[in-house]
Amino acid sequence: MVGGAIGLVVVAVALIISNIPSETAAIRDVFPHKPAMVSPPQASTLADNDICKTLVEPQGYTCQHYQVTTEDGYTLGMQRIPAGRSGKKANKPPVLVQHGVLADAALYLVSSPEQCLPFILADNGYDVWLSNARGTACSRTHTSLSPNDEKFWDWSWVELGTYDLPAFIEGVHNQTGKKLHYVGHSLGTLMALSAFSTDFKQIDMIRSATLLSPIAYMNQIGSTLLKEITVFSLAEPTSMKNLVHLSQMIRTGTIRKYDYNTSENMKQYNQATPPAYDMSKIPKDFPLFMSYGKNDYLSDVKDVEVLLETIKDHDKDKLAVQYLENYAHMDFVMGNNTRQAVFEPLMAFIAQH
Ligand SMILES: *[C@@H]1O[C@H](CO)[C@@H](O)[C@H](O)[C@H]1NC(C)=O
Ligand SMILES: *[C@@H]1O[C@H](CO)[C@@H](O)[C@H](O)[C@H]1NC(C)=O
Ligand SMILES: *[C@@H]1O[C@H](CO)[C@@H](O)[C@H](O)[C@H]1NC(C)=O
Repeated sequence: MVGGAIGLVVVAVALIISNIPSETAAIRDVFPHKPAMVSPPQASTLADNDICKTLVEPQGYTCQHYQVTTEDGYTLGMQRIPAGRSGKKANKPPVLVQHGVLADAALYLVSSPEQCLPFILADNGYDVWLSNARGTACSRTHTSLSPNDEKFWDWSWVELGTYDLPAFIEGVHNQTGKKLHYVGHSLGTLMALSAFSTDFKQIDMIRSATLLSPIAYMNQIGSTLLKEITVFSLAEPTSMKNLVHLSQMIRTGTIRKYDYNTSENMKQYNQATPPAYDMSKIPKDFPLFMSYGKNDYLSDVKDVEVLLETIKDHDKDKLAVQYLENYAHMDFVMGNNTRQAVFEPLMAFIAQH
């Protein structure tokens, strides 16, 4: 329920903005008071150790809280589940599990325990690490900025892929000394796709990547959705810049860095238009598992097909693609039969890599 609303709100905000020529004007119209941050009225308060205490330990699992610091100064919270419910210590590689926009790691932990990916992985011998992107409740400190500073919210998914993801990956690698599997949902897939098509140092620490409900190209998100959207109940804040960036992608159908204006683009990128990402640069022998659904508003089937076309030369035995007829955006995290339909095939895939 909450999950569906989260997805819809992202689309709503992005569409509102993308239908107005000047994004800056739109920001002021929609959010007059907090131009830098989009804050949900029901924001999660599960800061610091709370995810462990309220969502993991009561289910009978050990949970440890870790912090990593990004190159640009954000301190990010991670939760680790190092053993199964039986207490048996993990004997398989670490799995890093990354949430999508307007959510945090808690989203993976609120279904019935038999259907929660982190618990399923832990019970199957994996060392589970949950990451929380900047701006979420347990990742809201910075070496020099306060969340009340506009500058604190000056980022989009580009920074999540450029700084947060490497900090999580390095953090897990540092602690365990092992290469890890990556699982991302929604915007967590764009973080990975953008990072793995540009940063080959990171990819050396990754055994495989699972992309649930992948978001890359966003050209097909339809304006009919706008009518349906009246709710405004998100789980976690994000930056306005992130939503504006998503709206730029919906409007242009391209995956580029943030579009400022010609002069600022020249300053930032040394070119008038923002540089594009080329997903075909992801190493062809890098194991990828992708799962997408017919009823997914955010990860539209046609957009996923564009992504698949872009990586069509990927080694056939390193790419597994799953298409689910009745799946919507949040079903990939908290559906009724997600364990059988998605998580078990996912585990079968990563067991081979
Ligand atoms: C990982 O370890 C290296 C070497 O000790 C250190 O420089 C780096 O900051 C660590 N990274 C994280 C994210 O903890
Ligand atoms: C371009 O963007 C920069 C940074 O957002 C801003 O300071 C500047 O005023 C803008 N220039 C124009 C011509 O709009
Ligand atoms: C989940 O269960 C509900 C009610 O039992 C059903 O309507 C819905 O279609 C199911 N979802 C999926 C993805 O199977």
